[in-house]
Amino acid sequence: MKGLRIGDLAIAVPVFQGGMGVGISLSGLASAVANEGGVGVISSAGLGLLYKNLSANYLEASILGLKEEIKRAREKTVGVIGVNVMVAMTNFADMIRTSIAEKVDVIIAGAGLPLDLPSFLKKGSVTKLIPIVSSARAAKILCEKWKSAYDYLPDAIIVEGPKAGGHLGFREDQIENKDFSLEKLVPEIVSELKPFEEKYNTNIPLIAAGGIYTGKDIRDIMDLGASGVQMATRFVTTDECDASPAFKQSYIDAEEKDIEIIKSPVGMPGRAIFSNFIAKVRDGKKQPKACPFKCIKTCDISKSPYCIIVALMNSLKGNFEAGYAFAGSNAFRATSISSVKEVFQSLKKEYYDSRPLK
Ligand SMILES: Cc1cc2nc3c(=O)[nH]c(=O)nc-3n(C[C@H](O)[C@H](O)[C@H](O)COP(=O)(O)O)c2cc1C
Repeated sequence: MKGLRIGDLAIAVPVFQGGMGVGISLSGLASAVANEGGVGVISSAGLGLLYKNLSANYLEASILGLKEEIKRAREKTVGVIGVNVMVAMTNFADMIRTSIAEKVDVIIAGAGLPLDLPSFLKKGSVTKLIPIVSSARAAKILCEKWKSAYDYLPDAIIVEGPKAGGHLGFREDQIENKDFSLEKLVPEIVSELKPFEEKYNTNIPLIAAGGIYTGKDIRDIMDLGASGVQMATRFVTTDECDASPAFKQSYIDAEEKDIEIIKSPVGMPGRAIFSNFIAKVRDGKKQPKACPFKCIKTCDISKSPYCIIVALMNSLKGNFEAGYAFAGSNAFRATSISSVKEVFQSLKKEYYDSRPLK
């Protein structure tokens, strides 16, 4: 499996671990992935709740919590560490500024187009900027905007297809449509990026995400032009994943029919494992009474059927009466918990076994 270079950053194994909020990918999982030569990614979503002991103010606790997670990850690895920040979060700017000040290797920004992301870089900043897109059009708009406004091009781009877990950058009717499949998007985006790479004599590696589960999947998507992959679902059922044992078990127990598309208060569809909570929401039984954290820009308390950050905190702890687990379309394939090291060993084996040497 060929490694990957992003500027001066050498990534030995071209596997990014997808950021997973709330609290599913923190320093534990991220450092374990980085130790195997991949890119370990801390989710910045909801840290203010996880670290409410550090400050009663949600925004301040989020900043302190992110600093703490980066520090803990650095103590456990010298590998490549990133932070995932969602554009839809109200504390997007705080999380970006903190990540840059703490010199994380990469920032991965999705759930909205991070059109002003380079404006946060300072002279001497070392952090690489990697936006997530769901279409060739978005990749082009982003490159044009960044180049004209900031004379900066993305250090890499992640394309997230419709099989991903969590929020999806597609309308519900596009999710099963082959025209929007990852296999279709990858070559489209590679050719969209080519003119920028040629004109500015640079390299913008494309990282493919959404439904990549085995080493064979990695090989197949790299054959279509991806320089690497981002995987989240496969890393949930590991010892090092920061979620509770009950959250991980929900993946092992899930059958294919249990993995559903839901409407999220964020205003995008999401993929999750069916739970009693989802059933209650569908029956119209949930209505938040207050918006304690104002965590998402687009969430409107008068219309939201529930508070998403509270629901995700509950599921993190394994309470599926009051929450649900986000999951990629392949979550049902998990059968046991293994170590991150074992996942990497099996990905490499599957990668090489998928094309035996003649
Ligand atoms: C439990 C869970 C939580 C996620 N949370 C986030 C998040 O906070 N921010 C984000 O950009 N993507 C999030 N994602 C998407 C992943 O980072 C990743 O891109 C996607 O799931 C890749 O597809 P896969 O899970 O099939 O490998 C989440 C995915 C899962 C499964």
